[in-house]
Amino acid sequence: MNPAIARQIEELRAELRRHERLYYVLDTPEITDAEYDALMRRLLELETAHPELITPDSPSRRVGGAPREGFVKQRHSTAMLSLDNALNEGELRDFDRRVRELLGGESCEYTAELKLDGLSLALRYEQGLLQLAVTRGDGQEGEDVTENARTIRSLPLRTEPRWPAFEVRGEVVMPLTAFQKLNEERAAAGQPLYANPRNSAAGSLRVLDPAITAARTLDFYAYFLLVDGRPPLESHWECLQALQELGFKVNPNRARLAQLDELFDWCRGWDERRDTLPYEIDGVVAKIDSLTQQDRLGWTARFPRWAIAYKFAARQAETVLEDIQVQVGRTGALTPVAKLRPVAVGGVTVSNATLHNEDEIARLDLAIGDTVVLERSGDVIPKVVAVRERPADRRPFAMPSHCPVCESEVIRAEGEVARRCLNTNCPARLRESILHFASRSVMDIDGLGESIVDELMARGMVKSVADLYLLTLEQLAPLELKGEKNTRKLGEKSAAKIVAEIDATRQRPLPRLISGLGIAFVGERTAVLLAEHLGSMDALMQASPERLQAIPEVGPKVAESIRRFFGEPHNLELVERLRAVGLQFAYDAPARPAAGPLTGMTFVLTGTLPTLTRDEAKAKIEAAGGKVTGSVSKKTTVVVAGEEAGSKLEKARELNIEIWDESTLLERVLTQK
Ligand code: IVH
Repeated sequence: MNPAIARQIEELRAELRRHERLYYVLDTPEITDAEYDALMRRLLELETAHPELITPDSPSRRVGGAPREGFVKQRHSTAMLSLDNALNEGELRDFDRRVRELLGGESCEYTAELKLDGLSLALRYEQGLLQLAVTRGDGQEGEDVTENARTIRSLPLRTEPRWPAFEVRGEVVMPLTAFQKLNEERAAAGQPLYANPRNSAAGSLRVLDPAITAARTLDFYAYFLLVDGRPPLESHWECLQALQELGFKVNPNRARLAQLDELFDWCRGWDERRDTLPYEIDGVVAKIDSLTQQDRLGWTARFPRWAIAYKFAARQAETVLEDIQVQVGRTGALTPVAKLRPVAVGGVTVSNATLHNEDEIARLDLAIGDTVVLERSGDVIPKVVAVRERPADRRPFAMPSHCPVCESEVIRAEGEVARRCLNTNCPARLRESILHFASRSVMDIDGLGESIVDELMARGMVKSVADLYLLTLEQLAPLELKGEKNTRKLGEKSAAKIVAEIDATRQRPLPRLISGLGIAFVGERTAVLLAEHLGSMDALMQASPERLQAIPEVGPKVAESIRRFFGEPHNLELVERLRAVGLQFAYDAPARPAAGPLTGMTFVLTGTLPTLTRDEAKAKIEAAGGKVTGSVSKKTTVVVAGEEAGSKLEKARELNIEIWDESTLLERVLTQK
């Protein structure tokens, strides 16, 4: 064995681990996805040439090993019990009273955490290496899902061995965007949809083929640390800090609260703001913070007496399905939409809900006139989850055989669940493509909304997105816009603004233009990957299916869709017209941050700052030209420390690195050199 190769492999692994942590745990990447891929490819090459050097904690093992026949059962080191629930504020008050009585009136503090809606997982580490990942199962015994858990990027395969052996428990969740994307793909592929992100996280973790888990986006948040069967420190809060220092993702939304009223406020606050989170929560968990007090309170047969889950009210409602209408999307797909008797679900009035496709209607056995159960979860669009009543006079629904807009024939291709209008000039398709092109996350043409697009199309002024670039102030100003109540003129001022907005899109980076083309299965993220790896529109237009599939996250389906798009003459004509009006066809990697008072300095943030959140502090540093990284090293210039700063602060002192508090940071970002 060649020691130089072994060293090179270890260095590559250390580098990849560092970048994984920066990207998946700390959300502060330092390199592009393409640079990461290049490092991974190099590691895979070396490991393929030297298989004897492969270790189970290598970052390359996250890709998912071979499928298995079934799961092996594993007993838990200590039972994984559940939590008692408080379903309203009264029950939370009862819990607080009980706890205080049992503690003989002693003062106590709570740690409040979000109750993530996923599935719990226990991880065993020995000498800092992940050995075992076990699902909760019946609480005594779960399933060994180690190979699948390894593919979760935010879950460290190795950590500092602060204790020779320890166990970490936490929640596996699927972020809402990943859940929506997965269901859209499943709908398009005719597969059954997942009902909610929790089922989808469970379904993705408990599959026999780890490659499937690897392809799904899952996240792991740690909330329990056990050494020899019990938490090793003085308080739960310190355990959470320790987990964070060991490299686990710990939910930043947590608080230490001394009074019941503060706990009520915290719970109410999160009930109101739950839709702002990128994952689902179904309540708040309050735990007595002191571990000595936890010991004194002990356990019942099923629950700890020192913790409670305060559950938010379910966001379901019943209403009547009054009609089913059919919408035509920009790819021509016909989508049935439920028209509902308006009903409040989780504080929002809902009168429409997508029904996805005809198979979903059949699966639910849904007909017009039925009373249905609606569910709204997170910021997920409301959906019909079940039928409550089927009246005798219900009217069955059938998908139309002709496009409801242009009356062309519609076709359901083999292997697809959607019927599509094949007329590429169908006004409905054109309208949706223009609105997509103009939308905020694509070309961001502020002011170009539905009513203007409808009017431009009705007058024949826009027959393709390229026509937007021909519009003049004189043409736009006299447009009559039909509102709900009256009709008004667009006017000079708004017209001038729209012309300027359209002009500004000439500078939008290539990924936005790629996603603006509306290629099926090419969303924002894929567009960024395509631009990063190929570098230009021309390279994308010419790329072979093999070249496309060499790009991460691009599979045969996406590659085929891109090829098909550029194989159609009218799409090529559109692209050429967009080139002629001067849109960005080359990809410039995002510019380095502008020079400022902190240019050339590398920062590490640690602890809780008095007024700024971590993201705000990071944004301020970056706006001033500084760089923020996750771990303290000789390359760190300054550590910004707040309350409860832990090992990073110690390390900074050891290395003699400058330490600032928040006010020094705020002064320095404002001072120009
Ligand atoms: S503590 C012995 N903390 O909720 C108590 N659980 O209803 C162990 N959960 O099985 C659980 N977020 O799957 C705890 N911050 C959190 C949690 C959490 C979600 C889940 C967990 C548990 C279930 C109990």
